[in-house]
Amino acid sequence: MILGIESSCDDSSVALLDIKSLKLIYHKKISQDEQHSKFGGVVPELAARLHTAALPKLLEEIRPNFKDIKAIAVTNEPGLTVSLVGGVSMAKALSISLNVPLIAVNHLIGHIYSLFLESEARFPLGVMLVSGGHTMILDIDEKGDIKLLASTMDDSFGESFDKVAKMLDLGYPGGAEVEKAAKNGKERFSFTVPLLGDPRMAYSFSGLKNQVRVEIEKLKESGNLSEQDISDICYAFENAACKHIMNKLEKVFKERKFKRFGVVGGASANLNLRSRIENLCSKFECELLLAPLKFCSDNAAMIARAGREKYLKKEFVKFSELKINPRIKFDEA
Ligand code: KG4
Ligand code: ZN
Repeated sequence: MILGIESSCDDSSVALLDIKSLKLIYHKKISQDEQHSKFGGVVPELAARLHTAALPKLLEEIRPNFKDIKAIAVTNEPGLTVSLVGGVSMAKALSISLNVPLIAVNHLIGHIYSLFLESEARFPLGVMLVSGGHTMILDIDEKGDIKLLASTMDDSFGESFDKVAKMLDLGYPGGAEVEKAAKNGKERFSFTVPLLGDPRMAYSFSGLKNQVRVEIEKLKESGNLSEQDISDICYAFENAACKHIMNKLEKVFKERKFKRFGVVGGASANLNLRSRIENLCSKFECELLLAPLKFCSDNAAMIARAGREKYLKKEFVKFSELKINPRIKFDEA
């Protein structure tokens, strides 16, 4: 088995994956949402402290499987440095005590493998990655080489949901809460879709967030925010954010003619976005791949799965060479 460890942000997670059958033997995650919720976002120092308590607890549960572990795959980039340290330190200590090799896994590549958790990977593949830290369109060739087609210039898609949720006191993480509120929303506000006439292949969510802020302030000046006000704001914001994603994505589809396209990352759980991408794929006769909802957000199963590919190629990393990178860059196409 491959042991997967994930601690790049605010989820501590451990998984065991069978190398041959790709069966997930064990998977658990301890989320820190509640502890960060009152701050309206992740507090790095708190996240680090919670990881050091949660990771050993999870490890204790799989102690009987230690003898079957052939390698340890751990997220080493990108993410919060103080959070990554927790998982990487535990992986290093275990690799010494169990005498098994280490595999360094890029968290974003982990998200891509959430599409192939219990099946062999299929490339070439176009990917829309929407998470709390990233918004990217990627083109992956037959060999698995990744090229960046578009990314955000400021906030990410998921982060903009978190910020709108914070302005409306909906808690953290805000994505699911904003989506829930938007379901009862009506056509009332109209926010400008970012970079609509702009030829750049890029995303930007900070202007949209400011439009929402101004509208909330206006509503607050005229009294308390009602539940319907909140729903209507969320409805208009979610639609503008999704239209922004789709506007650039459709341009890419016209150019690239993808055979297969996947949507990954925590925010890929958004059903409004999913159905828009579903329609785009059917218009362009492209196969759509989606991760199971449970594995859209950060988890160690996807890290073990990405690690298994490296295990087959014997891409191990020496103890002293396993480094943490808070930021990474993919080559542009
Ligand atoms: O991939 P992920 O778990 O963590 C990072 O790698 O960043 O993504 C978390 C992000 C958060 O910003 C969260 O608000 C967003 O995904 N998210 C959503 C939804 N569910 C989670 N955003 C929009 N709609 C959702 N339903
Ligand atoms: Zn993630």
